[in-house]
Amino acid sequence: MKIHIITLFPEIFTPYLKVGPVRKAIETNQIEVNLYNPRDYAPSPKEVDDYPFGGFSGMVLKIEPIYSILMRIEYRGKVILPTPQGKLLNQKMVEELEKEDALTIICGRYKGVDERISKFVDLEISIGDYVLSGGEIPALILLDAISRLKEGTLGNKDSCLTDSIISSILDSPYYTRPQEFEGEKVPDVLTSGDHEKVLSWARKEALKRTILRRPELLYKAKLTKEDVNLIKEIEEELKWMT
Ligand code: 6GU
Repeated sequence: MKIHIITLFPEIFTPYLKVGPVRKAIETNQIEVNLYNPRDYAPSPKEVDDYPFGGFSGMVLKIEPIYSILMRIEYRGKVILPTPQGKLLNQKMVEELEKEDALTIICGRYKGVDERISKFVDLEISIGDYVLSGGEIPALILLDAISRLKEGTLGNKDSCLTDSIISSILDSPYYTRPQEFEGEKVPDVLTSGDHEKVLSWARKEALKRTILRRPELLYKAKLTKEDVNLIKEIEEELKWMT
């Protein structure tokens, strides 16, 4: 999969290509990241942005250098523009994008990119309801989320299986050594050696967190009979607490 990234700050990306699942996905030839700087495609390095027509404040990225880059990319695949006006990115969208042969991500800065870029854009994505100063962090987020879906990029195969639950049910808590820290002990069940009990405990904790923190996710979740029973138990426990 080729991922083309158009950015005024390619140096933001290079360190991230050298660590974790992104590095692994590159090393195993599952993704190839190509960085393009509009400055290298402008008549002079200063001509990458300009004042917006209409007297608004801030700067707008000029279209010609970006257009010039787009025309040089042999196969662009889906062209993505990160913007706060875009569709809110979720795991399902990441899973769809992971299947593509190529992606081209255009990172805006300042007030964004000249609107005439929209003719070339297939998808605008936002990563949340807050304003960032550019599309680079959203592009990194997308790159990371896609890379970790590639074969063999995660230390443990399972760790992706339990994550995929994220979009419907939140993950359970985890503990590691020491067994006791500042008087707080790891739940006994986790060291009991009873794997079935451990799984049931983790599922219940996951459901409890979802009910308390993101109840709206439960409407979309696929629940088993066992889940429904666990939810009843949780409701009983919560009743006692109020
Ligand atoms: Cl994708 N871009 C910018 N600049 N700000 C954002 C965003 C994207 N998503 C949330 N805020």
